Amino acid sequence: MNQPKDPKTRASDESFCSLLVGFNFLFFTGLLAFMLILPLKAVFSGSDAQHGTDAGHEGVADASHDTAAEVHAAAGAVEVIAPAAGKAAYMICSTCHGAEGEGNVALNAPALAGQQDWYLKRQLIKYKDGVRGTHPDDIYGMQMRPMAMTLTDEAKIDEVVAYIAQLPVTAPLPTFDGDAARGAASYALCAACHGPDAEGNVLMNAPALQNLQDWYIVRQLQNYKSGVRGTHPKDIYGMQMRPMAMILADEQAMKDIAAFINSKAAAK
Ligand code: HEC
Ligand code: HEC
Repeated sequence: MNQPKDPKTRASDESFCSLLVGFNFLFFTGLLAFMLILPLKAVFSGSDAQHGTDAGHEGVADASHDTAAEVHAAAGAVEVIAPAAGKAAYMICSTCHGAEGEGNVALNAPALAGQQDWYLKRQLIKYKDGVRGTHPDDIYGMQMRPMAMTLTDEAKIDEVVAYIAQLPVTAPLPTFDGDAARGAASYALCAACHGPDAEGNVLMNAPALQNLQDWYIVRQLQNYKSGVRGTHPKDIYGMQMRPMAMILADEQAMKDIAAFINSKAAAK
């Protein structure tokens, strides 16, 4: 019954066998890693849904920014404690983003004034960690990344964000024609996350849009659509935004939405 096989067949059987073992080993370690990561992810996104920050995802545990209420309390506290430190740290930023964080189209730098503090912080961490500003076609993100790296630790990030938070907010001027009425219709979808007045919603992890310049809004929508932004494996919030940009048919649709969003800033 158990006829011994000739050595040739046995050898090829064995190598097939070790191939299978190798494959199984890879497959199961992969599966194990996946199973280990999954609950961790669930824990983090669970705490996200409650707390609305992604400190866990970005590898920075930040108890002081855990809830929306605490974000504001903490921002207020930092403002009192370290305005001078934040001002000094903001000096370098002002060369591109403007003395009052109003942005500068010539330097491709968006407005920062009026943006929510938790979002500013998250983006700075993303730039530092290479989650944003590393895509080979992200020329503007690549300009920003080394700037975020000058903020050596979390305390520095908090300081500069607290400084930006108290800058006066000015409504951005339009740089192109967009049909705000048409934009209003397509913005209905965006409102679910970014809020009816594009004021942002920490619980949805969605930033304020209302004070961003139209050219920056359109560029980010294009970045999301083309995959320059929102495709890094660690960019979970960018990945949530990306399909939304893909719904927008063309550049005109993006310009119309930007015009509508800016009309919300002007109304304030
Ligand atoms: C060399 C010019 C330059 C300097 C200096 C600079 N930035 Fe930027 N920053 C940019 C550009 C350009 C972008 C937009 C990148 C893009 O289009 O994706 C940007 C984007 C950002 C964003 C993301 C905004 C958003 O709405 O997502 C933040 C936050 C930011 N910068 C903060 C800072 C801070 C804080 C400093 C100082 C430590 C700083 N920047 C210094 C050029 C600069
Ligand atoms: C499912 C929720 C959701 C919807 C719906 C949504 N967004 Fe977003 N959006 C986000 C999140 C989350 C981010 C932040 C990503 C990050 O943290 O990098 C974002 C980021 C953005 C940004 C980048 C802002 C900046 O400062 O760089 C723009 C612009 C934007 N969204 C526009 C829109 C528009 C326009 C629509 C409607 C067509 C829309 N969003 C619909 C969740 C959403």
